[in-house]
Amino acid sequence: MIPDSRTVLVTGGAGYIGAHAALALAERGYRPLVLDNLSKGHREPIERALGTPVIQADTRDRAALDAIFARERIDAVMHFAAFIEVGESVVDPLRFYENNVHGTVTLLQAMQVAGVSRFVFSSTCATYGVPEIVPIPEDHPQNPLNPYGRSKLVVEKILAECETAWGLRSVSFRYFNAAGAHPSGLLGEDHDPETHLIPLVLSAALGKRPSIRIFGEDYDTSDGTCIRDYIHVSDLADAHVLGLAYLLGGGASTAVNLGNGRGFSVKEVIAAATRVTGRPIAVEKAERRPGDSPVLVGSSARARKLLGWSPRYPELETILAHAWAWHQRKT
Ligand SMILES: NC(=O)c1ccc[n+]([C@@H]2O[C@H](COP(=O)([O-])OP(=O)(O)OC[C@H]3O[C@@H](n4cnc5c(N)ncnc54)[C@H](O)[C@@H]3O)[C@@H](O)[C@H]2O)c1
Repeated sequence: MIPDSRTVLVTGGAGYIGAHAALALAERGYRPLVLDNLSKGHREPIERALGTPVIQADTRDRAALDAIFARERIDAVMHFAAFIEVGESVVDPLRFYENNVHGTVTLLQAMQVAGVSRFVFSSTCATYGVPEIVPIPEDHPQNPLNPYGRSKLVVEKILAECETAWGLRSVSFRYFNAAGAHPSGLLGEDHDPETHLIPLVLSAALGKRPSIRIFGEDYDTSDGTCIRDYIHVSDLADAHVLGLAYLLGGGASTAVNLGNGRGFSVKEVIAAATRVTGRPIAVEKAERRPGDSPVLVGSSARARKLLGWSPRYPELETILAHAWAWHQRKT
């Protein structure tokens, strides 16, 4: 890929995936400007990795956004800033719509006024709801099961309407389960609360939690536990850089799944984590959680064909090894 020196505003760039994308942009010669309100993100790791300061601002703060667009010559926006926890979205849906939808609308308004019309959006496989076909293709019906998924679907629709109205062009990336950590050990996953399987399993291996709960062992899958598609966060970041280059090169708006195209069961993840860490991991049986699909695996055909993307780290062991190195270092 030819190095590109254009400036990209990365909202939520102090978070897990945004930080990896910001670093991937810098590694390819772009100038990432990290904007984050630090409600969930971490200033230090990304500032150390990039050598530039985080702009502490909120996507709902129009005046702050206008000032940034007026000050910097921004060519495109990558929008990661959002609340992400599905359970919290069920308890407090308005808080989610306020941040994920209103925050995005405010950002788009500022972009429209500033004449910035290239947008890479963090959407999610949660927009699909219960899969009718697996691996899930992008033209699968979208019937989200929770306010989190719906907040992302609403934004996808808004992006299409902005394209018709004022020529916005966007790539909506529908991620499956982001996992792993930067191979350098500089960045990794640090959510609070943490609800993702791999960091929970690794914290059990570290003795920070007594055990890991398996929600349901009677699904119609090979070993009875849920199957999910884990994609290395650096592979996600690479796809964002390719998606941006595609848009800057004149590509049409689209939605693209980002997954490994391969699923692993909860028990397979725990067994692999036991091998990678060399530590015992205690498990506890629990009831099925309402709304959990037995299998969620995405088709990555479009990402491969349209963007020329392929994962550098498709193996579960590699994803776990990188995450393990990060979690040990973080302790
Ligand atoms: N982690 C996953 O597996 C996954 C899967 C599908 C989609 N996504 C999407 O990817 C994006 C990033 O997820 P993540 O795992 O890195 O989450 P994260 O919580 O680590 O990062 C989100 C960042 O956004 C910031 N933020 C939130 N609201 C903000 C606002 N109004 N203004 C400015 N900053 C704000 C937070 O401080 C945080 O640093 C999210 O949009 C999420 O919905 C994540």
